[in-house]
Amino acid sequence: MTFPHAHLLGIEPLSPADITAILDLAEDYVTLNRSATKHGDVLAGLTQINMFFENSTRTQASFELAGKRLGADVMNMAMQASSLKKGETLIDTALTLNAMHPDLLVVRHPHSGAVDLLAQKVRCAVLNAGDGRHEHPTQALLDALTIRRAKGRLHRLTVAICGDIAHSRVARSNILLLGRMENRIRLIGPPTLMPTGIDAFGVEVYDDMRRGLEGADVVMMLRLQKERMDGGFIPSEREYYHRYGLDAEKLAHAKPDAIVMHPGPMNRGVEIDGEIADDINRSVIQDQVEMGVAVRMAAMDLLARNLRARRAAAA
Ligand code: NCD
Repeated sequence: MTFPHAHLLGIEPLSPADITAILDLAEDYVTLNRSATKHGDVLAGLTQINMFFENSTRTQASFELAGKRLGADVMNMAMQASSLKKGETLIDTALTLNAMHPDLLVVRHPHSGAVDLLAQKVRCAVLNAGDGRHEHPTQALLDALTIRRAKGRLHRLTVAICGDIAHSRVARSNILLLGRMENRIRLIGPPTLMPTGIDAFGVEVYDDMRRGLEGADVVMMLRLQKERMDGGFIPSEREYYHRYGLDAEKLAHAKPDAIVMHPGPMNRGVEIDGEIADDINRSVIQDQVEMGVAVRMAAMDLLARNLRARRAAAA
């Protein structure tokens, strides 16, 4: 199978066939990750550098584990403490990286578009681990794998994405992916947390949680992205929980077998009730974390095949 992309910068350029290819390969890695040895070698001899210019727990750990399980040499650069603070430009960072000859570069950055810019300047495959409010493609892919496994399909589902849509790259990538796979998407949240121009995305918008959840197969909750808010977007967290926090009463409006998702980190008691998050009959939040490692292994495997093919052709 050939993956026709040099980088994974977003869901935007992916076709349904590309998405299915990543998810199908990830299924093999779910099996590998549950086996005793957990080890492959498709990235042996390759160097993976993780550069996180923004805090991350699960995404960085997941990419690190994914690379190590496939045999890559993995290095984490602690960007908070490094040259960015000293005013080094992204272009200088790229030149420094090129001199180290990485093969896979995983980047998270607070500015939308920064990862695309870096990808134009480095000679390796780049994976976007989240850029500002723009995209977070591996999150949408791991969400898709979780949904496909729980529901048995990834089309003609009603998916409710709830909360802080405006500041969320997770929402954006999920809207693109789920739309491309022909699902019905509902966005639920206060009008202050809806992006402008959302009508162009082919989604239904609700500001009433109960109405929006009616008949949903999947309920995807989002964190309030306080670090991206520069003013009063909500009256108070208490009021927000009352209107938009997922609790048993609101969830009862979705289908009886609806699954509950959250990309993490969760604010329990703000956007989601702790008991719902921990309810193993409804919540697939831990499955999302497990699928995250497998999806990142699949994405890096496919990009590495492409990279090797291009290098062989150029030699
Ligand atoms: C998300 C992110 O960083 O965009 N988290 C994640 O990757 N698991 C969502 C969030 O921060 O709320």
